[in-house]
Amino acid sequence: MKLSLSRLLSHLCTVRVVTTCRYLSISRGLLETDTRSGGALARYITTMSRPKVYITRRVPEVGPRLLGESCDVTQWNKDDPVPRVELLKQVAGKDALFCLLTEKIDDEVLDAAGPQLKVVATMSVGYDHVDVDACRKRNISVGFTAGVLTNATAELTVTLLLATSRRIREGIRAVENGTWGTWKPLWLCGPGLDGATVGIVGFGRIGFAVAKRLVPFGVEKILYSDAVRNPAEGEVGAELASIDEVLSRSDYIIACCALTPETKGMFNKSAFSKMKKNAIFINTSRGGVVNQEDLYEALKSHTILAAGLDVTVPEPLPTNSPLLSLDNCTVLPHIGSATDKSRAGMSELTARNILTGLKGEQMPCQVK
Ligand code: GLV
Repeated sequence: MKLSLSRLLSHLCTVRVVTTCRYLSISRGLLETDTRSGGALARYITTMSRPKVYITRRVPEVGPRLLGESCDVTQWNKDDPVPRVELLKQVAGKDALFCLLTEKIDDEVLDAAGPQLKVVATMSVGYDHVDVDACRKRNISVGFTAGVLTNATAELTVTLLLATSRRIREGIRAVENGTWGTWKPLWLCGPGLDGATVGIVGFGRIGFAVAKRLVPFGVEKILYSDAVRNPAEGEVGAELASIDEVLSRSDYIIACCALTPETKGMFNKSAFSKMKKNAIFINTSRGGVVNQEDLYEALKSHTILAAGLDVTVPEPLPTNSPLLSLDNCTVLPHIGSATDKSRAGMSELTARNILTGLKGEQMPCQVK
C-alpha cells in the first residue's frame, strides 16, 4: 500500500513504541509537518539522521523515553543481560551506548560499534566494567550516574550493617524453620552501634552519606581512609586515618571504595588479620575488592565476627558458595541502589549524559 507524503509524515509525528519479544524500538519523528514538499523533505532527512542509541536492558522508562524524543533507540527488552554476541551485533553503527554494570565495554565492543560511536554511558556509579582508556583513545565520552544513588546505597549499607550485627538472617530462619523456641537471654545477641568505632574505606559521596546516617545511632568515632581528606569530614566528626589504623581500630569496617587496580582484593587475609576479633565487615562497593576465599577463612575461623555483603564475585553468587553456609555471613543480591526513585534517576541521568555527550558537550556526570 502506498502512503501519501502527508500520511507518512503524520505517522512519523507520533512516538512509536514497537515491542517485539526482545526489542523495543522507540522513535519519534517530526514534531510538526510541513506539507510543502521541500520543507517536509528537509525535515524527513533530519529525522532519518537522528543519532542511534542502543540500550542493553529493560530500564526505568524515563531514560529511553527521553532519548526517544531525539534519537533512534533500540533496546534489549529483557531483565536479563544481553548476550555478548547480540551486543556485538546490535552496537554496530550506533552513536551511543546505554549500558549497565553487567556489560564489559572493551575494545571488542568499541570495534564492533565502529568509529561513529561517541558516547558510552553506564547506568551505574561504578564504571570498572568500562575500559575508560580505550574509550579515551577513541574520543568516546564516558558517562556514569554518581549522586542519584547515593542516598539509596547509603541506606542499604546501614540496613545491611544492622542486619549483620543484629543477626537478622539467623533470626528469620529460626522463625521460619521452627527453631525459635522460647525467649532466651543469650540467644541471637550481637554488637550494636552504640559506642562503636566505625571505619569507612573510601570516603566519597556514599561513604560520607553512610557516616551521616550512622551518627544518630550513637557511634563513638568514625575513621576513614582515602587518598585525600574529605573537606566535609567535620560535619560527621570523621577522622582521616591510615588503612591499617582503620582496620585495627574499628568495630565495623565498611568498604565504600571504587574497584580499581589499587583496591582489587585489598580485603584479604592480611587485612582480616589486622581487624579486631569482634569486627564486622560490610561491603556495598564491588565484590572484587574482597578476596572471598580469605573472607571465608576469616569468618569460619572467627578471625572476625561477621560480614555483610551486597556485592560478590561472581554475581549471582552460586548457591553452593561456602560463604552461604556460614551463619555469620549475610549476603544480599546487589541491591544497593534499588529504590524506585534512585533507579529512575539513574535511567534519566544516563539518558541526559548521552544527549549532552552526543552534542559534544560536557555531560552532567562524566568520567574525567
Ligand atoms: C551499582 O553497583 C552501581 O555501580 O551503580
